[in-house]
Amino acid sequence: MTSFPERVFSGIQPTGNLHLGNYLGAIVKFVALQKTHECLFCVVDLHAITVPQDPKELRQAIRRIAAAYIASGVDPAKNIIFNQSQVAEHAELAWIFNCVARMGWLNRMTQFKEKAGKDRENASIGLFAYPALMAADILLYKATHVPVGEDQKQHIELARDVAQKFNNDFADSIAANGHQGGFFPLPEPLIQGPAARVMSLRDGTKKMSKSDPSEFSRINLSDDADAIAQKVRKAKTDPEPLPLAKDGLGGRPEAENLVGIFAALSDSTPDAVLQQFGGSQFSTFKQALVDLAVERLGPIGAEMRRLEADPAYIDSLLREGSRRAREIAEPNMCQVKDIVGFIR
Ligand code: AMP
Ligand code: TRP
Repeated sequence: MTSFPERVFSGIQPTGNLHLGNYLGAIVKFVALQKTHECLFCVVDLHAITVPQDPKELRQAIRRIAAAYIASGVDPAKNIIFNQSQVAEHAELAWIFNCVARMGWLNRMTQFKEKAGKDRENASIGLFAYPALMAADILLYKATHVPVGEDQKQHIELARDVAQKFNNDFADSIAANGHQGGFFPLPEPLIQGPAARVMSLRDGTKKMSKSDPSEFSRINLSDDADAIAQKVRKAKTDPEPLPLAKDGLGGRPEAENLVGIFAALSDSTPDAVLQQFGGSQFSTFKQALVDLAVERLGPIGAEMRRLEADPAYIDSLLREGSRRAREIAEPNMCQVKDIVGFIR
């Protein structure tokens, strides 16, 4: 296998409000990776329309994700921040990948099963083909590393399968077009950390999610200090004090979740958090968590509101980011067309 220069790609869908799971599972990693890697951070609006969206709200939501990236500390000058629909090559490569990926692969995707629910016949074809578009997002830039939350692991594995199958199916043409070894890298997910899967504040066995009907299940990046305090105080817990070490969190999903959130927000580990709070009652721990969350998230929410008040500025950043993304995407797409056998 050829070695590829390291490049990071990730994306977030402009649907609903961004929550603590998105922040800790994804955006915090983006902020760290920009120091060491060339990075592209996408607002995946083509993915958003796999389920119905109101056009006005979609536009707002696209700007809100861009604002969240920037407010969290992703530098738009150093990194490429853009929205997917402005780079036509995403849809073009996705079509080719629709012809590489197999029905059987997509049939196994748990996110499709969850999102389609019982009425599968009525799900859009886009929702089913969603992972092939995600593979195109990543491979269009030959990205090697993909920071995401745990729920996306299966989709990244599918992107690896697509890359591998393309490399195999077109091996002769890839060589005839002068490329050594495989054409696409096999991208790696970056998932580790204490908050790879942030759980609902109402039920420690369910993922924190944009689609949960209860607002008390999640902390939004746009929540003010009062909302954060209320949600943490109301968070479900058990009657025992906190354990002295991580092992003691087994079978206590709510405690494990809150300790994981505390660890992630303080750039620490669950064991270190329990060294400080082991033996404490939840009331004490929750107050410390409120203070920490407000200190960490408050300025981000305020900066998001400031940026969102100037949509023209965000739109111009997205246009510039898209222009820079196209500079990488266009030549790669031309090579793919040559490999597949199209005339251009
Ligand atoms: P989405 O909102 O589905 O576009 O997700 C955007 C990013 O946030 C992806 O990398 C997800 O894996 C991540 N993410 C979403 N929910 C959670 C969660 N509850 N815990 C950790 N990461 C999450
Ligand atoms: N499917 C991802 C999610 O729901 C979003 C996404 C789309 C993505 N394309 C991507 C993430 C490419 C990483 C890389 O969270």
